Amino acid sequence: MHFGGEAIYLTIQRLLTALAHGASVVGKSTLLAMTEYFKSMNEHSLKKTLSKLNIDGLRYFDSIGSTNDEALAWAAAGAPDLSIVIADEQTNGRGRLDRKWFTPKGSGLAFSLVLRPTATLRPHLSRTVGLAALSIAESCSGLGLSARIKWPNDILLNGKKAAGILIETVWSGDDVDSLVIGMGINVHKESVPPAELLQFPATSLEDELEKEAPSRGEILFSVLNAFVRWRELMATDELIHAWEEMLAFRGRQVQVQTGGDSSIIGELLGLESDGSLRLRDANDKSVIIRFGDVSLRPGA
Ligand code: ATP
Ligand code: BTN
Repeated sequence: MHFGGEAIYLTIQRLLTALAHGASVVGKSTLLAMTEYFKSMNEHSLKKTLSKLNIDGLRYFDSIGSTNDEALAWAAAGAPDLSIVIADEQTNGRGRLDRKWFTPKGSGLAFSLVLRPTATLRPHLSRTVGLAALSIAESCSGLGLSARIKWPNDILLNGKKAAGILIETVWSGDDVDSLVIGMGINVHKESVPPAELLQFPATSLEDELEKEAPSRGEILFSVLNAFVRWRELMATDELIHAWEEMLAFRGRQVQVQTGGDSSIIGELLGLESDGSLRLRDANDKSVIIRFGDVSLRPGA
């Protein structure tokens, strides 16, 4: 039997609600199984989703170590622009500085995009993390959530981390051959790791929506759609302004750990045109924070 379309999914949701309220319709287990089917990711439905965006390079895994590792290898072997590696589960997902990123089975989105820079994009590659963050944040806003970007690579919902980005480079001598943009998005409640494994509070779209989250395929489509749209504007001020608008803690005191024990405290003002962060310190001096081993926290 072939099921298609979100309308059917919503109908099942309604029927399940009716059953929960005592209605006697068809077998509950059948409906639950159908719901699970729609929540699950599979190669066929992902291919259909991606074809709407003219993306045809796809590698899907039920389980993988890290989608970034697979995408880095594929990029080095010549993967076309916008190829995507996606997995239902990661067993060795990574954040920055080899920290762990958890993607339990069936719970979240974990995917990596290969970006092949054109001549126009090449001077602006330091903006890539903003491009990715903006795409996720906008998709969350589209669901009615208030998303903020904790510079440089985290997306916060209600002050808690719901998504992270890890960008890695494939070099060709001294030149960038391609970038791999890894995105991890907590969709269902089960994607949120226990608090003791975290340095920063975490949440999921489902927790924040307080209702059934859209399917992971739908969220993927929305993020990639925004990504493709914003990439066209990557060389413009518009991207920097939109990114800046979405920054968490803007106008507030923050503390930035800059590696080791050193840190800078100041008011978060905004972004430089390369995506670096601009603060005003206690002496009223402008301080620019570049990408690297930096950790941003709200200040006292
Ligand atoms: P900082 O806040 O210092 O910038 P970060 O949060 O960006 O750091 P990363 O290395 O970029 O740190 O992200 C990895 C961190 O994310 C892990 O150390 C862990 O605390 C947290 N983490 C791992 N999996 C998840 C998840 N599924 N949801 C939310 N947070 C997670
Ligand atoms: C972070 O917050 O530090 C970034 C987390 C990035 C996680 C994503 S999930 C898909 C891709 N594969 C990985 O191993 N990491 C990224």
